[in-house]
Amino acid sequence: MKILDLDITVYKDVYLPSDDTFLAMDLIKILKRYKRVDIKKVLDIGAGTGVLGLYASTLFSLHELILVDISKEAVRNASYNVSRNLHLLNADRISVIRSDILKSLDKNLNLDKSLIIFNGPYLKRDESSDTLSVEEATQLISPYDKPYMIYRELVDQLIDRSVTDTYLCFIYDSIYRNELLEELDDSCIEIIYICKRYFFEGISASIFLMSSSS
Ligand SMILES: C[S@@+](CC[C@H](N)C(=O)[O-])C[C@H]1O[C@@H](n2cnc3c(N)ncnc32)[C@H](O)[C@@H]1O
Repeated sequence: MKILDLDITVYKDVYLPSDDTFLAMDLIKILKRYKRVDIKKVLDIGAGTGVLGLYASTLFSLHELILVDISKEAVRNASYNVSRNLHLLNADRISVIRSDILKSLDKNLNLDKSLIIFNGPYLKRDESSDTLSVEEATQLISPYDKPYMIYRELVDQLIDRSVTDTYLCFIYDSIYRNELLEELDDSCIEIIYICKRYFFEGISASIFLMSSSS
């Protein structure tokens, strides 16, 4: 499929770029246009096809782009999409890594002043999730009772690494907005927020700034 100029192939069992993906792209564009930040490193966690990281590297001029997913198939898929779109990417170095959030990433990797995108599994397992296909459920249902806690987990891993001045782009179910803000209140400030209603669900997308390793 074509997403803007990007040529994105979607492997079986890998998340098909959907409304949440496009909302994340809007948010990244807003960060670039209105905050005019100069991002040099992008880490796309839960990269799936890799579309968000690839898109970010068409907007920013990067020293490094790192795509991460817990799924082996997604890692293969993102690697393929990197190779297909190389001519469009502004990044000196690109890697695709299989990892559970940051767990398998080099401890010395400097993530200060970077943009970390995580369109993670943000839905709660309940009756309505029965309407999802098995593939969608695997990509979208959070392992936590409070689904947004996957973002808290990432922030805790970043605090362990003493990361600072880093932008975090999170996508989540709008019904958990207040709880997520409260949960992250001690570590990050929200600087951009957008929300869209798609039929019955509201999907929210925020950029947070982690400004000190508190
Ligand atoms: C909703 S999909 C988003 C895919 C893609 N970023 C997009 O926006 O189209 C969520 C992705 O997160 C991955 N994922 C789930 N848990 C993860 C974890 N603990 N660490 C890294 N990736 C994870 C899934 O394999 C899936 O590819």
